[in-house]
Amino acid sequence: MDFSDKKEEIRRAADIVQVIGQYVQLKKQGQNYIGLCPFHSEKTPSFTVSQEKQIYHCFGCGRGGDIFNFWMEYHNLTFPQALKDLARQYNVSLPEYNNSPGNRKKSDLIEFLFEINELAGRYFHDVLIKRPVGKPGRDYFSERKLSQDTISKFRLGYAVNSWDGLVTFLERKDIPLDKAAKAGLIVSNTTNGYYDRFRGRIIFPIFNLNHQIIGFGGRVLDNSLPKYLNSPDTPLYHKGRYLYGLDSAYKDVRTKGFSIIVEGYMDLLALRQHGVTNVVATLGTALTSDQVRRLKSYAKKVIVLFDSDDAGKQAALKSFPLFLNEDLSAKVLVLPGGEDPDSFINKYGITKFDELLGNSIPIFDFYLDQALANEEPGVDGRIRLIKDVLPIFMELEDRTAKFLYIHLFSEKTGIDEGEIWEELRLDERKLKKGSGLNEFKDRLVSVLDTKKYGSDLQFLKLLAHYPEKIDNFRDQQWELIVSDKNIVKIIKVLMEKFPFKGSLYEVEEFLDDPITREQLRVALISNPYDKDIVDQAVGEFLNKISKMRISQSISRARAEGNIEAINHLIKEKQGLDLRNKRN
Ligand code: UTP
Ligand code: MN
Repeated sequence: MDFSDKKEEIRRAADIVQVIGQYVQLKKQGQNYIGLCPFHSEKTPSFTVSQEKQIYHCFGCGRGGDIFNFWMEYHNLTFPQALKDLARQYNVSLPEYNNSPGNRKKSDLIEFLFEINELAGRYFHDVLIKRPVGKPGRDYFSERKLSQDTISKFRLGYAVNSWDGLVTFLERKDIPLDKAAKAGLIVSNTTNGYYDRFRGRIIFPIFNLNHQIIGFGGRVLDNSLPKYLNSPDTPLYHKGRYLYGLDSAYKDVRTKGFSIIVEGYMDLLALRQHGVTNVVATLGTALTSDQVRRLKSYAKKVIVLFDSDDAGKQAALKSFPLFLNEDLSAKVLVLPGGEDPDSFINKYGITKFDELLGNSIPIFDFYLDQALANEEPGVDGRIRLIKDVLPIFMELEDRTAKFLYIHLFSEKTGIDEGEIWEELRLDERKLKKGSGLNEFKDRLVSVLDTKKYGSDLQFLKLLAHYPEKIDNFRDQQWELIVSDKNIVKIIKVLMEKFPFKGSLYEVEEFLDDPITREQLRVALISNPYDKDIVDQAVGEFLNKISKMRISQSISRARAEGNIEAINHLIKEKQGLDLRNKRN
């Protein structure tokens, strides 16, 4: 089925700045919008969105495309799913196509897994709220003080304590069990077929930012082990890539400018129930750079609110370099008396909690306090301390921050600032590595290298921004003035496809390698010629073509020893130069 009409319709209805702006903070710069790339780690924005061309391009990592590419990449979805989502958002109707399980291609697997998760989520939720067998789950949640409202908002559920509760349900729905196993919901057993992964546990569905279920967590109702069981890695779920609750928090995180990070499901739910809307949870793993980067799209600051036990403190310490690397300002709050966020808020309420938030300390101070607390006495201890923090200072690319932290460190430890700087220089010399910014610049230069592609890219820019000029060059030997093979390819496609049916960006589909696609995007997203010099540019390029053509003929005539032809051509060339001067 060809969806290009539908794509075009959606493209017209949607605005790429608004679509991407939901997930990336964009600000206007010149003709375009820029922001921090959600697909790679960076501190200075190289992610560029063009409202006029309805495309985006990251000069840092080279990723780019239109709204569909963004949606697929950001939400980890297939094209049909992206099409469906965006069509729904912008009220564009799509033709129905056959959805029966037997008719699925392999490429639809991801979509199918989403559907299976959705079915399973509904099943667990139904069991919890309606069925007699769900009573243990209901009792447990009421003991943990979770309200009906929270239970339905987060679609919490209960998995009965049986080997085939879900298996039977899925069989009745005609779901192939091997697919449900791929979703991580059931497990195959060589002798007896499939059995339920989650048994006798309360269930927490985990959502992506598109509010689809990507996996589940399940907690036992007693003290048995493991306390929590999570979905294994599946095509939808990858441990450490998602934050629990971000889908229902990101708007508030952006409004409030900061986010609170907790460790557990129950911590998050308890805080939400008390009105803390901007909290997300890491789900047991140490915080990852993926998670920090996701959060950074919405938050300027975070408060790390881990359990006050040693494991919690260790986890907070480990997260320190991540925040430094992503340049996200972080504070740490240690709860008093061995409480975790869930027990604290249920005991003392929101007012006390808010008060406590005010006591959070910068993560660097927290780090130092911990380091100093463990310090061995004497010179050895000091040396170790310096060695411990040096790598962190080195991570700081920002000089002002470096001065500040070194100053703070020296104040707290009494170690001379000069001594620290000295050590730092020694280590930096050892570890000379290019910063991300330089990489970005290198890349920008290599794509836009004027010596190498200068005139090629200028010519491509002219045709891409003013396609109505394409016909001026159609019968000319324009290949003579384009030396880059890829750009020749792109221009050929432009010429072939003009006049375009829909948006110009559609021609990207006819370019089969990523380099040419990237070059087209760069041409489209870079500033166009001013309107009033376009005709002049057309003239100059035409001229250049004629000159190249004559030069070539001259060389050929020379090779053949055809004096007459040479003279004739030289006159023609002089005529051309003369005309140029007059113009
Ligand atoms: P905790 O052990 O601190 O549990 O683990 P909790 O959230 O306080 O749970 P309650 O209050 O006893 O019910 C914190 C988080 O670590 C993950 C879970 O996401 C949990 O919420 N975890 C913990 C696991 O994934 N597996 C485990 O076995 C334990
Ligand atoms: Mn707890």
